[in-house]
Amino acid sequence: MKKDSLAVFVSNDIVTRSADAGYKWRQNPDTFYLSGIDQEETFLLLFSDAPEAKYKEILFVRRTSELIMVWEGKKHTIEEAKKISGVSEVYWSDSFEDIFNMLMHYADHVYLNTNEHDRSISMGEATEVKFARKVMNHFPLHKYERSAPIMHELRVSKSKYEVELLQKAIDITHKGFLRALKFIKPGVWEYEVEAELTHEYVINRGSGHAYEPIVATGENACVLHYVSNEAQCKAGDLLLMDCAAEYANYNADLTRTVPVSGKFTARQKKVYNAVLRVHREAAAMMKSGVVLNDLNNEVRSIMEKELLGLGLLTKSEIAKQDKNKPAYKKYFPHGTAHFLGLDVHDVGNRFNKLQAGAVLTCEPGIYIQEEKMGIRIENNLLITKDKPLDLMKNIPIEAEEIEDLMNSKK
Ligand code: GLY
Ligand code: MN
Ligand code: MN
Repeated sequence: MKKDSLAVFVSNDIVTRSADAGYKWRQNPDTFYLSGIDQEETFLLLFSDAPEAKYKEILFVRRTSELIMVWEGKKHTIEEAKKISGVSEVYWSDSFEDIFNMLMHYADHVYLNTNEHDRSISMGEATEVKFARKVMNHFPLHKYERSAPIMHELRVSKSKYEVELLQKAIDITHKGFLRALKFIKPGVWEYEVEAELTHEYVINRGSGHAYEPIVATGENACVLHYVSNEAQCKAGDLLLMDCAAEYANYNADLTRTVPVSGKFTARQKKVYNAVLRVHREAAAMMKSGVVLNDLNNEVRSIMEKELLGLGLLTKSEIAKQDKNKPAYKKYFPHGTAHFLGLDVHDVGNRFNKLQAGAVLTCEPGIYIQEEKMGIRIENNLLITKDKPLDLMKNIPIEAEEIEDLMNSKK
């Protein structure tokens, strides 16, 4: 941060679902990252050049009471918040405004934090935007700065402890996948598979699904964000499961595609192995120094080769394709990789060189509407200087491995 800067981080509001019910609350990932406080009405102030040492770092947590205890349960005490956060100055959040307003008089620059994910879709004014407006209105002559670029840089490289939490989410996800393999057979419904996964995630202390689970059989798998999970799985069809657990706010992101009857047809296996080859080639390219945006483009030629081999594209279609609308997009309309962490589509700059410590997905897919099948294979990789470390290396991925597990004694 610049000299004489005050940074402020707020937490997410509870959003009304309807009547007096709220949506499941989730902490602002930056506030969580910096403080470890997973509770509403949290504020964090950072002021390195504060006039008094005690104002360098201040945390505010919601004042608890007997009434809150009765209705909502236990909230952090001041002592607990100190221990969790490592911040020694902790106050109740009803004193935030007074302290913040006072400190503003000694700061030149103010760092405010908003969601600057490059694919974020605006869904109404977020808590932090409302907060920024209020502060800028009250103090129009300060110089305002963005915290997001700093937070993105910090969050993209995962600490050893963060990798352990991601691995825990992945291990729970692995258990869910094995449970689903034992359950899937012709006649089961997509939502029943979802329920099996939910059970396994929650019973292992996951906080639930990392994102809306995609359990998509047959042609449903060609709908990339299919989440209704309402169809019956038929013999001979495939089942795509893009499902993973969240643990301690860290997210896994797994996709596996399996045969409903426990055996791939020759064609399905051919397409499956084509996707697996692309997956492996792309994964091997993910090293420090590579630019994610370039990698997403480079996978294109690998995919084109496989689509030619499967008879889905012809050489002449590729030769005369429009550069801005390449032919392969018909069968592979999404990117190969995204950052992963506290957000499933985590923050990070896809135009910068990857650094060791970043965690990325690798998730090519081939979707053939006319054959009513969609296959995606997605793993989570820790970037190192050379070969990436596959955090999902223990999760079955070979077609035969999956068949064997599905056919081993139920
Ligand atoms: N599950 C979301 C994704 O794969 O990006
Ligand atoms: Mn993904
Ligand atoms: Mn996914």
